[in-house]
Amino acid sequence: MVTNETEPFAADRLLLFGATGDLSQRMLLPSLCALDADGLLADDLRIVCTARSEHDTQGFRHFAREAIEKFLPAGRRGSLATFLNRIEYVPVDALTPEGYDELAKVVGEPARGLAIFLSTAPSLFEPTIAGLERVGLTGGNSRIALEKPLGTDLASSCEINDAVAAAFPERRIFRIDHYLGKETVQNLLALRFANIMFEPLWNAEHIDHVQITVAETVGLEGRVAFYDDAGALRDMVQNHMLQLLALVAMEPPSSFDSTAVRDEKVKVLRALRRVEESETVRGQYRAGAVGGEAVPGYDEELGKDSDTETFVAIKAHVDNWRWKGVPFYLRHGKRLPKRRTEILVQFRCIPHSIFEGRGARTEPNRLLIGIQPEENISLQVMAKVPGLASEGVRLRPVPLDIAMPDAFSEKTRRIAYERLLLDLIHGDQTLFVRRDEVEAQWEWIDAIRALWADSGESPKTYTAGSWGPSAAVALAERGGVSWNE
Ligand code: BG6
Repeated sequence: MVTNETEPFAADRLLLFGATGDLSQRMLLPSLCALDADGLLADDLRIVCTARSEHDTQGFRHFAREAIEKFLPAGRRGSLATFLNRIEYVPVDALTPEGYDELAKVVGEPARGLAIFLSTAPSLFEPTIAGLERVGLTGGNSRIALEKPLGTDLASSCEINDAVAAAFPERRIFRIDHYLGKETVQNLLALRFANIMFEPLWNAEHIDHVQITVAETVGLEGRVAFYDDAGALRDMVQNHMLQLLALVAMEPPSSFDSTAVRDEKVKVLRALRRVEESETVRGQYRAGAVGGEAVPGYDEELGKDSDTETFVAIKAHVDNWRWKGVPFYLRHGKRLPKRRTEILVQFRCIPHSIFEGRGARTEPNRLLIGIQPEENISLQVMAKVPGLASEGVRLRPVPLDIAMPDAFSEKTRRIAYERLLLDLIHGDQTLFVRRDEVEAQWEWIDAIRALWADSGESPKTYTAGSWGPSAAVALAERGGVSWNE
């Protein structure tokens, strides 16, 4: 077995825990199949799947086929039989040490290395790692990826991180935040750092505020127990939204590599000012209609009363020179009117308008980065409405629009997990979250939760299909801002 701790190796074994779970069915198996179809997996890569269910390999391949046929478009499947032939299945109860012996036998001796993916409940991370260590699967030629949630607060996250660190050094730990695998999220870096015109303006002198919205139409989606324990703040803001904020606010890294990018992100996360209670709003949806369909309230879906928030809005501040006095408004909710993730950068007004005497009003420029479902970048610029001078000058904002799928129509739009799985196999950590980032994220989130606990207030209610409680509108309006809707 080749053991080289410094050079990333391309794994020839992938070991997937939680292989029968929801994420595996919807994302991981389809992503692996799509990578295989595009010839991006080495011929000798074998995939060992495991979970508690008592399948044999044939039974699991059948299960995997059904998942792929359901969640991967036919045009991206390639030869499904060839892909399925890569897979073996070993049932393992993560809590029973004996199960790992059989697993180690099936994994065998990788020629180059092993990539492990834990897509299980975090409570199983520790026993799983102990089991892997006992059978010798945590050596220098294996690396491990961990799915969220990485803890429920700073203390539990540190506990998980410590347990993983006892068996793997940081350079072999891959913490997943699937937002970092999204094409448009990476495009944010291209926009900022591959163009000359934004960076000189990307600061408090020229930017008035930033809005980050992650709006979802879905409700609990059967994840009753998990969601009611987590809530919107921990489910989405702690990870995905803070990563988006960090990418928007970070200083230019010196290169696109894992250390340089993550060094810059963590500085932003550590510069987040503790928010005051008046800078947060939490909400919980009540029965309403989304997309013309009647939907029940959160309490009805849950079957009991609860103080868990399904909506959160926060006015955040990054305390450094670049962002002095520029609020970052974050907003996320379930059962909102549309599914839309976007970042809006609102520039300041021009210092002096030469058109004012002619009756023309100018509006500040806005850069709108649509992350999903539409991937587009739109820069709103002021333009003259055609007409003669005798009528005065009229100006109107018009968008310079780039729809990414049109600009790159020949390119396949990939699932975020395709990129993340491939990076895991090849050992590139750039799009994975480092321990110091996760811990800085939790520190900020814990302080918000402590404020909420002290206030003892319940979340404000909002009607499903609306943009959240009116207090969220008021939060923005107090700063002279309107949410982009
Ligand atoms: C997950 C959250 O991390 O992200 C879910 O647990 C949420 O609640 C999902 O629905 C959103 O992901 P995406 O890629 O659909 O925006």
